[in-house]
Amino acid sequence: MSRIAVVVGSTRPGRKARTVADWVLEVGRRHPAIAAGDAFLEVVDLAEVALPWLDEPVPAAFGRYQHPHTQRWAATIGSFDGFIFVTPEYNHSYPAALKNAIDFLFAEWADKPAGFVSYGLAGGVRAVEHLKSVLSEVRAVPISSQVALSVFEDFSYADPSDPTSPATVTARGHQAASLLEVVEDCLSRCRALATVRAPLPG
Ligand SMILES: Cc1cc2nc3c(=O)[nH]c(=O)nc-3n(C[C@H](O)[C@H](O)[C@H](O)COP(=O)(O)O)c2cc1C
Repeated sequence: MSRIAVVVGSTRPGRKARTVADWVLEVGRRHPAIAAGDAFLEVVDLAEVALPWLDEPVPAAFGRYQHPHTQRWAATIGSFDGFIFVTPEYNHSYPAALKNAIDFLFAEWADKPAGFVSYGLAGGVRAVEHLKSVLSEVRAVPISSQVALSVFEDFSYADPSDPTSPATVTARGHQAASLLEVVEDCLSRCRALATVRAPLPG
């Protein structure tokens, strides 16, 4: 039974990220394995996790986490078999809060698939390219199927003349199909990678 974390990558007030994550859950539940209760999608919201800026004295690759907040974060991420990262594009990359959350850990990301749902003026694709290279360094396994939502075409706004007003995801039809492909690719790799993954220490 695979559990996939939908990691909410933006923490700012007024963010679209949580709305996008809720859309991922809503559409993802149509996947047969999720609908049947044979696999699970769960939100991990970095705004709720509320990590400080990286304050561990030893790099995460050594696995000697000192702070209770790091140990809690390690237990959360370590309990999942794969990830779908929901990320906006900030200055052609992904949010610093997400980089910080990745840097805190190492073994907990390793040999687990990472799928992506991005958004931005150009679908957030540049953020995902950066995210893929960073996740590879912590031994996660990026998958190539991806959802790229346009802030112009895949959202509707409380005030249509103001793209900073509260937004809901209205994703064009092909986006839901792409998301189900991300979920399927993630689940198949969860199963494959579980066969090679070393148990976490402790
Ligand atoms: C600091 C910052 C930088 C941004 N830079 C980009 C960018 O380089 N490319 C882009 O397409 N959108 C950019 N945007 C627009 C965001 O994609 C858009 O505001 C999105 O809603 C942000 O995600 P969030 O609401 O979940 O935080 C930027 C937004 C912020 C706040």
